[in-house]
Amino acid sequence: MNDYRIIATWSFGKIAVEVAAPLLQKGKPALDAALAGAQAVEDDPKVNSVGYGGIPNSVGVVSLDACVMDGKTLSCGAVGCLENIKHAAAVARLVMEKTPHIMLVGQGAQAFALQHGFPLESLVTPESIAEWEKNRPKKGKTAGHDTVTVLARDQSGTLGGVCTTSGLSYKLPGRVGDSPLIGSGLYVDDEAGAAGATGVGEEIIRAGGAGLVVEFMRQGKTPQEACETMIRKVNRLAARRGVHPARVSFLAMDKRGRVGGACSKGGKFVYAFGEPGKIELITAPEIEAL
Ligand code: GLY
Repeated sequence: MNDYRIIATWSFGKIAVEVAAPLLQKGKPALDAALAGAQAVEDDPKVNSVGYGGIPNSVGVVSLDACVMDGKTLSCGAVGCLENIKHAAAVARLVMEKTPHIMLVGQGAQAFALQHGFPLESLVTPESIAEWEKNRPKKGKTAGHDTVTVLARDQSGTLGGVCTTSGLSYKLPGRVGDSPLIGSGLYVDDEAGAAGATGVGEEIIRAGGAGLVVEFMRQGKTPQEACETMIRKVNRLAARRGVHPARVSFLAMDKRGRVGGACSKGGKFVYAFGEPGKIELITAPEIEAL
């Protein structure tokens, strides 16, 4: 059949798509390809909001959140507040495969990773330390939230998704965002579709997250309509709370491989798209309506 689709958040999502697309082309499962793509972004020190080189939290520690989900089995795994382990998404996958649980956090997540052979390493770079130092006077104010979420549909039609981030820079120690929460930062169900989120995690969690986007697709909306419906909901909640516009973006893929994305006003959200013979960046519409 040789048909596949892959999308990933932001322009650095292209790194993920370029790694994942050849794997999908070879017939690899969606989750394997999405994970390999996400890991390439985790490894890139120039991406300062994911994995190695992520901007630290308020006490100078890089604290990673990640999750994975398989659309066929609905198996999923997650880690939160993981320190000194570069490949948070791979650890999340092992939580899925090797434990009866869905999420491990903090020291428990790190001990689990070490038991499974992940190296303990520093995640800061000279650039990330300099950036952190530069904005320290503003500490208490969080900033930067460009999670990578990768959604793939493999040649068998199965969906898989991965979400991984260092989260908001200057966040409080122990803060967990939407990214490791199944149903918030990511949800994947072969019977309806896959969706992911990026932006201010608190607003994504409050609005109901990626799981709602998948439910909109289950009800018959296209991925584009589902993302836009979700952004309008975020806008309504933000307006009620006096924080409009909330900086949030969603992307989605349905079970047929159709894709969509949308962001709130000023979000400037782009995502990378891949299918056989094509990789491109797509600019998502900014939705102002409530
Ligand atoms: N969406 C990433 C975060 O809020 O941590």
